Amino acid sequence: MRTTVGIIGAGPAGLLLARLLHNAGIDSVVLESRDRAYVEQRQRAGILEQGTVDVLRAAGAGGRMDRDGLRHDGIELRFARERHRVDFPALTGGRSVMVYAQTEVCKDLIALQIEEGGPLLFEAEALAVEGVESERPRVRFRREGREDVLECDYVVGCDGFWGVARRAIPAEHSRVFERTYPFGWLGILADVPPSHDELVYARHDRGFALLSMRSPAVSRLYLQVPEGTDAGSWADEEIWDELERRFETADGWSLERGAVTSKSVTPMRSHVHEPMRHGRLFLAGDAAHIVPPTGAKGLNLAVGDVVTFARALVHLEETGSAERLDAYSETCLRRVWQAERFSYDMTTLLHRAPDAPPFEDRVQLARLRRIATSRAAETDLAEGYTGFPLD
Ligand code: APR
Ligand code: PHB
Repeated sequence: MRTTVGIIGAGPAGLLLARLLHNAGIDSVVLESRDRAYVEQRQRAGILEQGTVDVLRAAGAGGRMDRDGLRHDGIELRFARERHRVDFPALTGGRSVMVYAQTEVCKDLIALQIEEGGPLLFEAEALAVEGVESERPRVRFRREGREDVLECDYVVGCDGFWGVARRAIPAEHSRVFERTYPFGWLGILADVPPSHDELVYARHDRGFALLSMRSPAVSRLYLQVPEGTDAGSWADEEIWDELERRFETADGWSLERGAVTSKSVTPMRSHVHEPMRHGRLFLAGDAAHIVPPTGAKGLNLAVGDVVTFARALVHLEETGSAERLDAYSETCLRRVWQAERFSYDMTTLLHRAPDAPPFEDRVQLARLRRIATSRAAETDLAEGYTGFPLD
């Protein structure tokens, strides 16, 4: 099999890239190790930055998002039983975010690809990327029990944190920057209308809690839990009790409970692989970088990477200049590190490390009060949350 761009992975990065290339008249093949049903029901985050919304619309993939997505103009910070709303449009010159689940973005892109795009092969597992320093890189993959080879001009590894693409970059060219956190998030989906119309980020002495949503009828809630927690060790009522404690306010706000339909634990880590390109292999999305979920940046960063790649390749085809393709890693990493910084700031602002000295509690509260009382500090948060521009 032969194509211009071989894409490994049908998460949001790989699927959107295939769409952008299709729209530009460039052919691609997507290899995805899992089956379609698995990819379409995997629970992930659900906040789209303004820039991501704009990209999906421009790619012709925004129809259902515009119908079913919820535009949010702010978030609430909760600490010391107080509430503070951050008003995004007022602080950022009109920017907002969209609550629309990543799963739904994937479903929309898969449907479009199957209807209009090039081959999207499910249950096709990439085994290795070879010849990345040559003009003809190849992806060796297995499908229906047989090994096959996809010959490409370029390979884009969109295969997530556990993928194989990154391994094709020789160790002597790679540098990894990493931080793990001694806690994770226990996440639930519940059949109950969200108890607040915007997301609530709560800092509490017992740990962080987040109220989010998937629709006007479905809540998504998270609790900070110790690293390595087994989701099954928390009974539903224990989860609600703990959420209630952490969200408690002085003004008597109340949390509605409902049937819990899913429960899982997400570990938290920051990870960046540099460079994001070696020869004709490009890394995009989680294959190159992970952020802790506190800032909801994972999907949005993946979108930034593939837009950068697609524009660079179009530039090469139109002008003959590989300048932008050569600058891919640098261009992406500038934005990646801003999101890494933002996610790290949000995480350390709101979580309580198990061994944190009381001094840190006071500093966290002082940081939160600063955001609540200084327009400059609040604007910094609003700009980070609604997203950093693409170069
Ligand atoms: N061969 C083929 N496909 C693979 C392989 C492989 N060897 N290894 C992994 N994959 C597939 C996975 O099954 C998955 O569908 O690659 C895809 C990677 O998708 P994601 O993990 O969703 O990563 P990405 O597309 O970069 O999305 C960015 O945003 O909200 C965050 O972390 C969250 O996934 C999210 C990310
Ligand atoms: C989610 O809805 O899953 C979500 C929202 C905001 C975050 C992280 C996750 O910061």
